[in-house]
Amino acid sequence: MLSGMYIHIPFCLNKCNYCDFLSFKSTDEEREKYVAALINEINMYPKFPLETVYFGGGTPSLLTPEQVSRILNNLNIKNNAEITLEVNPKTVTLEKFKLFKKAGINRVSIGIQSFNDELLKTLGRLHSSSEGEEAFYFARKAGFDNISLDLMFSLPNQTLKDLKSDLNRLFSLRPEHFSIYSLIWEEGTDFFSKLEAGIYKETDNDLEASMYELIIDEAQKNGYIHYEISNFCLPEKRAIHNTKYWKNEEYLGIGIGASGYYQDVRYKNVLKIPEYYAKISDNVKPILEEEFVDSDEKEIYEYILGLRIIPDGIIPKGKYIDLCNNLVDEGFLIKNNFRYILSKKGILMANDVFSKFI
Ligand SMILES: C[S@@+](CC[C@H](N)C(=O)[O-])C[C@H]1O[C@@H](n2cnc3c(N)ncnc32)[C@H](O)[C@@H]1O
Ligand code: SF4
Repeated sequence: MLSGMYIHIPFCLNKCNYCDFLSFKSTDEEREKYVAALINEINMYPKFPLETVYFGGGTPSLLTPEQVSRILNNLNIKNNAEITLEVNPKTVTLEKFKLFKKAGINRVSIGIQSFNDELLKTLGRLHSSSEGEEAFYFARKAGFDNISLDLMFSLPNQTLKDLKSDLNRLFSLRPEHFSIYSLIWEEGTDFFSKLEAGIYKETDNDLEASMYELIIDEAQKNGYIHYEISNFCLPEKRAIHNTKYWKNEEYLGIGIGASGYYQDVRYKNVLKIPEYYAKISDNVKPILEEEFVDSDEKEIYEYILGLRIIPDGIIPKGKYIDLCNNLVDEGFLIKNNFRYILSKKGILMANDVFSKFI
């Protein structure tokens, strides 16, 4: 049965130079109106017993703990559920973390991006590296024992040495989990204009691969499990919510621009706030587009998403067994009984491997 919910909070203090996530500036009144609309949307769905709730953004930590608590009070949450809130370091204090914990949040994912102050400025982040670290210490002090940190690599002019020093600071904090994404040059961002204008240039492929290998090696040396292409954790600390996506399980997506997967349909909500409010006040689900997933497509999704969970991999059926055996011969997969998992070469060229299934 469906047991995960994603809630999108589309507000940020400021737009970062690289980011095209659905988010904008807001007032206290706007956030209050949005929270009321979210609760109405939540109440349009059955009260599934939830094992995971994920507040993503945007910047969910811009909400007040009281608003978070009000949203959670409208859900049917199982005991020991994982309840994650994404946090921007500029929006939190020790006191606020304590109140988020009291509201029911038990996992935080803090957007660090880098510990290099010059790079943070280039990225358009409002916080310094020490404010990033301070946010981590506040969360710990408030009693969070499940903290994830978000970083990026392959940033403009970043060297291997810069990355190594980011990794050293990351491992010195010893979060339970971290994600590290290679920069995507998204159209419409300040970064993309600078790329087109020749002010920035993309990281050369060999350097990007060396950076990714450095991350994998250093993570392993420090006791972290590389359990998904961009995600690492200490033992038993996988992100339970995200793992539901990779296992192709159904989940509800709430809020503007949120995606969901419910009753064999993948859907995406409307992208504009006025349209969202209009649908909610008409008591209609604010869905923009829907795609029915038939059993063949479901199988393909299961393989492509399943391979992302590196230690688990997939158990293919039918014609996909031959495909996987060929990928073993080419060195992209490793076979372990009936299970196929990505090899080191497969991890480095994961998108090429996934494309073979389509
Ligand atoms: C919603 S944000 C995290 C919370 C909060 N908004 C913040 O930035 O502090 C999700 C993460 O996506 C990653 N991200 C955003 N834009 C990206 C891009 N263009 N390329 C790679 N990663 C990106 C960043 O690591 C970011 O922390
Ligand atoms: S990276 Fe985070 S804080 Fe920056 S604009 Fe995107 S969602 Fe907002």
